[in-house]
Amino acid sequence: MTHDLTLPSGSHTAEGLAERALRDPHRPRFHFTSPGGWLNDPNGLSHWNGVYHLFYQYNPLSAAHHRIHWGHATSTDLVHWTDEPVALVPGTDGPDRDGCWSGVLVDDGGVPTLVYSGRHGEQELPCVARGSADLRYWTKDPANPVITAPPEDIDITAFRDHCVWREGSGENQVWRQLVGSGIRGAGGTAFLYESDDLRSWRYVGPLLTGDASQNRGELDWTGTMWECVDLFRLGEGDEAGSTDALVFSAWDEGTTHHPLYWTGRYQGDTFTTTALHRLDYGERYFYAPQSTRDEHGRRIMFGWLQEGRTDEANAQAGWCGVMSLPRVVTLATDGGLHQAPVPELTELRRERVEVAPGRPAGPYTRLHAVRGDQLDIETTLRLAPGATARLVVRETPDGAERTVVEVSRAHDGASGTLRLHRETSSLDPSVDTEPRYGTLPLDPDGRVDLRVLVDHSALEIFANGRALTARIYPTRPDEAVGVGIGADGDVTLERFDAWRMASAFTDGPRPLWP
Ligand code: FRU
Repeated sequence: MTHDLTLPSGSHTAEGLAERALRDPHRPRFHFTSPGGWLNDPNGLSHWNGVYHLFYQYNPLSAAHHRIHWGHATSTDLVHWTDEPVALVPGTDGPDRDGCWSGVLVDDGGVPTLVYSGRHGEQELPCVARGSADLRYWTKDPANPVITAPPEDIDITAFRDHCVWREGSGENQVWRQLVGSGIRGAGGTAFLYESDDLRSWRYVGPLLTGDASQNRGELDWTGTMWECVDLFRLGEGDEAGSTDALVFSAWDEGTTHHPLYWTGRYQGDTFTTTALHRLDYGERYFYAPQSTRDEHGRRIMFGWLQEGRTDEANAQAGWCGVMSLPRVVTLATDGGLHQAPVPELTELRRERVEVAPGRPAGPYTRLHAVRGDQLDIETTLRLAPGATARLVVRETPDGAERTVVEVSRAHDGASGTLRLHRETSSLDPSVDTEPRYGTLPLDPDGRVDLRVLVDHSALEIFANGRALTARIYPTRPDEAVGVGIGADGDVTLERFDAWRMASAFTDGPRPLWP
């Protein structure tokens, strides 16, 4: 297969990508992926006249991060997606010659408008494009870049990605925008700008700046640059009953660390923080998330599931990068964010297998009735203090390859842990099998609502509203279809249902240039 890779980019190589992608057993079937080539961040998320638009960082020429385009897909149900023409192509020259990097879509008085980062050499600057009424065709603004340089006299680490909104009422309406950045010697930041027309911007100042000297090496280190900042309000009203969230992806010197968010209050030109939280315990496997408020008033979020295999393996596979399932984000009772897959996904559920409630029999029981590499598993467990429950997925008959989702309750009963063991998820020594973990909020009754979505190499776990996303690559993918449960200590299984999930895409290759 590798000989294809040495051909110059062109129709032959391009065709090979989509076909190779289709044959890869690790390719998800109900998560959105690009037709072939490379995919990273979700961009321009919007619900426009009843249609969901998902744009994404896309390289249709190879499964590598290079000269990024904007791919585009639409959906009316957040489950089935239609590929639309590639929305943005890097210019032959000009501010986006080397890539059309991440950005958003806004409604400029009825005109769909993209704000994105044009890349030229090592520099990224804000650019704008106007869309046709059907959001299919985009015209770049001749005045690009609309901000010609980062704020003066600040030593920055980077300057890219956008969050844009309209604020105020009547005569006093104004556009506001955040650009992700970092101040050298201080930490990651989001620079605030203001505009009347999306073309000419006044710099206001940093909305909030992190402290990179704190918690370096920890799972909540805020990094030296904030990628893909996303500011939104959850709940109603200005004060009581609502919280603002500032989501960002902590980045440092080319390393994508993890998505975090501050809760607090956005007011005037600043964001006053209440607390810092981890958004997804999978770290870089749920990166650069973006959200939108849909026409039903829901906050819908997507993130990018990076690969955990080598660049060579990605190149051979012909594709790489998975879009997360769409999530509904709400305010949790503990002041953090509660995440759950959109209810629409249940449309893909097929045969159901139910396991009788009771106490899981001993340390491990293989559930012979449940098998597959496309599954939706929903269970409710009750854990006594000191107890641990395990859900095993993608297990080979000999148990040599298996992935273990573990929920446990501390001896003092108060706190819990959600953990993903990937150490035996693959016998391939070149894939990432590092474990993942994070805090599991628990009520005094020790109840855990656990949902596990398995889609070939993509795994999304939700436990009491906390998310953990990762990738797994068993070497015997056709045999790694077993499921089982087990427990140490006093665990009651209150409910266990599993469904085989249908594919959301048809079997043929999708055009790389729809
Ligand atoms: C995040 C990111 C963004 C950038 C884009 C480039 O993954 O690095 O900061 O705009 O990807 O593709």
